[in-house]
Amino acid sequence: MTKKQLETSVAFLKEKGFDAPEVGIVLGSGLGRMVEEIEDPKIVHYHNIPFFPLATVEFHSGKLLYGQIAGKKVVVMQGRFHLYEGYAFTDITYPIRVMRELGIRKLLISNAAGAINLDYRKGDLMLVEDHLNLQGGSPLAFKNVSDFGERFVDMSQPYDAEMCARLEGIAAEQGITLHKGVYAAVVGPQLETRAEYRMLGTLGADAVGMSTVPEVIVAKHLNLPVVAISVLTDECNPDHLEPVNVAEILAVAGKAEPKLVSLYKTLISEM
Ligand code: HPA
Repeated sequence: MTKKQLETSVAFLKEKGFDAPEVGIVLGSGLGRMVEEIEDPKIVHYHNIPFFPLATVEFHSGKLLYGQIAGKKVVVMQGRFHLYEGYAFTDITYPIRVMRELGIRKLLISNAAGAINLDYRKGDLMLVEDHLNLQGGSPLAFKNVSDFGERFVDMSQPYDAEMCARLEGIAAEQGITLHKGVYAAVVGPQLETRAEYRMLGTLGADAVGMSTVPEVIVAKHLNLPVVAISVLTDECNPDHLEPVNVAEILAVAGKAEPKLVSLYKTLISEM
């Protein structure tokens, strides 16, 4: 990754009308319907953006959208790149750098995750308060990182306290259950064994998924205030573990999605 590549990607998108977005949004698996909230969307497929990671088969639907939500200019990633597809850490976080260069001042992330905390139910939402990076690497571990910012990035408060507090307030006002907790990121794509779910609980995780953490680390690198909400799609009880059903995970995410849309839309309207 070079600065020149980043400039080329950004120039391409500006030319397509992606004009000074204020907010960036990343939509997780099964959580694509937020795009219906965008007024007059401009849509660019990832594979057409210069220097975006090259798509895998599964990834043909990946799009970057631009428009307005609640009167604010937004840029939305419908679909993200995952480590389990074989990408490098710098690839999967490249779009975050592009959105920042386009002008975003806030980043709102979503993901589908398994519930490790057994007080949480599938279909519930969890505000990510902190995380465990169990992906065995970092999106900041590259040679020319200092061209992009500092190397030793502070992680004492990864998630923006002000936006988190607002989301809790909005959830209470709207009668939406919003748990809080620690998100553990693993590589995947295989789901966890019973022993691994047990371990994750012991380590202090409330939810587990295969994304988000690299994006948050890069947001911190860019001094970009970030929040993340997990849609809990399955209950990871090591003593009663059912075989995973990806179709069901996506269905649960889709069903819970209107709550996520409502929280984020209200948060944006208040910015
Ligand atoms: N583990 C990892 N990732 C996930 C899970 C899970 O149980 N559910 C949804 N994404």
